[in-house]
Amino acid sequence: MPIPATPAPGQFEGGCAFADGAYVPLSEAKISLFDWGFTRSDVTYDVVSTWQGAFFRLDDHLDRFFVSLEKMRLTLPYSRAELRDILHGCVRAGGLQDAYVAMICTRGVPPKGARDPRMAQNRFYAYAVPYVWIASRDKQLQGIDLHVSQRIRIAPESVDPTVKNYHWMDLVQSLLDAYDQGRDTSCVVDAQGNIMEGPGFNVFMVKNGVVHTANRGVLEGISRRTVIELCERLGIPLEIAPIPLAEFRQADEVFLSSTGGGVLPIAKLDGQPLAHFPGPITGRLSDAYWSLHDEAAYRDPVNYSG
Ligand SMILES: Cc1ncc(COP(=O)(O)O)c(C=O)c1O
Repeated sequence: MPIPATPAPGQFEGGCAFADGAYVPLSEAKISLFDWGFTRSDVTYDVVSTWQGAFFRLDDHLDRFFVSLEKMRLTLPYSRAELRDILHGCVRAGGLQDAYVAMICTRGVPPKGARDPRMAQNRFYAYAVPYVWIASRDKQLQGIDLHVSQRIRIAPESVDPTVKNYHWMDLVQSLLDAYDQGRDTSCVVDAQGNIMEGPGFNVFMVKNGVVHTANRGVLEGISRRTVIELCERLGIPLEIAPIPLAEFRQADEVFLSSTGGGVLPIAKLDGQPLAHFPGPITGRLSDAYWSLHDEAAYRDPVNYSG
């Protein structure tokens, strides 16, 4: 599908979307009521950030998006190079330096009366908005209180968590529980009571100097991968294995990882203060995470000129 002329820098100041083959202001970005992406959550997506005018790990996000598309048997109407151009175009038109950039592919609208997903023409959407934080800077300093929910994350045998998806009913319910209890956010467990992930982030704990994160049942977050690589670079011991709930509650430090904020320290679990906040290992990883944004290998400068 041809892509339209690149929008002028700042043409849609504050945010720009790309829907049905055109760059539009955010307020005009719409999807059909009959798109299976909406009615059946038959959709995959990815979110990459830009920081100080450059994409962070764009190729890794694109790789993950293309794997998700393949696993869902969705076909993007654009090549990888065109997809890149569209994402750059959204950031440029939005006049953004620090941005949250989403790419979404839905099953689309099957012909009237048809129930065969193969008959639908898949649709692509994208948008760039100002950078989104899982928790504000103020909240991070004050200390995030994480609700550890007993709700069970949808089984990986049912919905492949390595495909980035919108099957969030468990996560949203846990978040509502968290807010009802005066907490800031939540994470869920698997059927065996191991810590999984939360709405928009992976979860880590530190115990006796070792960093732990779940080995299955979770999205393979690009920020999680960054933390794993940084542990290796900094010589911090790491274990990728199930984290039982009882061990998690005894953690020395807990932190989250997300494109929406990087490495985010947790101060309390269900109101109970953790031994260390902000923890020394969390601090080292967070500093290293943001320093990485200056390294050429991880940066893809936004094409602001068009
Ligand atoms: C369920 C879930 N887990 C983990 C993450 C973190 O992934 P990433 O580090 O790629 O942002 C996200 C991000 O949206 C998510 O939705």
